[in-house]
Amino acid sequence: MRYSIYNAIHKAQRQRLFELSIKIGRANFNDPAQAAEVKDDLKKMIAHLRKHSHTEETFIHPLFAKIDHTEHKLETEHHALEKLLNNLEENAPGNDGDKLYTEFNRLLAAYLQHIDAEEIAQSEILWKHFSDEELMEVSKRFQQSLSPQEVMENMKFMLPCLSAPEITNFLSNMKNKMPSPAFQLLCEIAEKAFSAAEWQDIKKAIEMTTN
Ligand SMILES: [Fe+2]
Repeated sequence: MRYSIYNAIHKAQRQRLFELSIKIGRANFNDPAQAAEVKDDLKKMIAHLRKHSHTEETFIHPLFAKIDHTEHKLETEHHALEKLLNNLEENAPGNDGDKLYTEFNRLLAAYLQHIDAEEIAQSEILWKHFSDEELMEVSKRFQQSLSPQEVMENMKFMLPCLSAPEITNFLSNMKNKMPSPAFQLLCEIAEKAFSAAEWQDIKKAIEMTTN
């Protein structure tokens, strides 16, 4: 199986977008506390998506640019998504929950298509022209560009959305590459997403692969 530069973050984005769609749909916008919470979540999601597009343009699109014009197509899609994000920002200050729900799901639908196109471009272009080591190097350069606080924010966003085998693989890779307290922090973030029995199995699997 090839290394996917997109897999973990796109999986987390799908889950977080679905969760927020449900939350907006169920919120009582007549309750100021609920309305404020939804708007705060929405603001954070918009900021995350903008930052993510910028990251892709900085670290991943130069790879496409070496081969063909795919980076132009993906950047055009980023501009179209930016328009939807601007629409959402304009609608968020009001208390029209139905309008916000419609606009948010319009963004969600467009975003799902966009990340699918990126993943297809990865398998059809990046995997043909770059080795796993070269793609991992790009991920590493991105990680190194982040502050420790940004790394933790990313982990909190991403780790609870991964499957048990993905978490086992991820934490096994990280265990000997970082100080023990930082590794413990990652374990605490991941643990919350699993039952006690599942977490015991994950811990055992990590110990078996790293000892
Ligand atoms: Fe993108």
